[in-house]
Amino acid sequence: MISDEKHNRSGGAPPSDSRGGQNFPEPWVIEPMPLNLLEAPLDFFFADHYRQRQAALMIQLIADGEFDRQGVVDLIDFLEVDFVLHVGDEELGFFPILRQCCSTEDDIDSLLKRLADEHKADEAIGDEALTILKRRLAGDELSPEDCRRLRVFAEHIRQHLAVENAVLLPIARLRMDANSLETLSMILKQRHAKDHH
Ligand SMILES: [Fe+2]
Ligand SMILES: [Fe+2]
Repeated sequence: MISDEKHNRSGGAPPSDSRGGQNFPEPWVIEPMPLNLLEAPLDFFFADHYRQRQAALMIQLIADGEFDRQGVVDLIDFLEVDFVLHVGDEELGFFPILRQCCSTEDDIDSLLKRLADEHKADEAIGDEALTILKRRLAGDELSPEDCRRLRVFAEHIRQHLAVENAVLLPIARLRMDANSLETLSMILKQRHAKDHH
């Protein structure tokens, strides 16, 4: 949702080019999920990873002292709803189906275990980060330790999705046939039927 407040900078941060800069034209906006991609589930995950990259950028900007009220509200909502849904999409839908499509030589189990372990770590680091973001939204100044924790979370998100984009999705594109893709698509549609975003 766009509101005028979105464009009001507050919180005493010095002016910067974080909004409208050449490299990051809209740093405080996370695009809505294109639900038509549910027909192409691997593209759906790739698109959701792009949104997570945007969330990581926003977390980093906040750690750097930037603030955009509506951006932080949207970020908190994204982390509490969409991010959690994504992990479930992978662990309850994608990973089990991919496992069935792979042979032992793919060594998919160790990759999926690593990713699931990272999801667990994300949960713990993410809860901390959410508490910090909510305090920031309430007007608190962030301590250097708060900023460090936010940076750790942003980096964790980036590293995780880099592995999923560079290793997981290419294996899935090789191994998943039309039937397994269709099954995954159905599961995702059911999971996102309640998605109000
Ligand atoms: Fe993941
Ligand atoms: Fe992912």
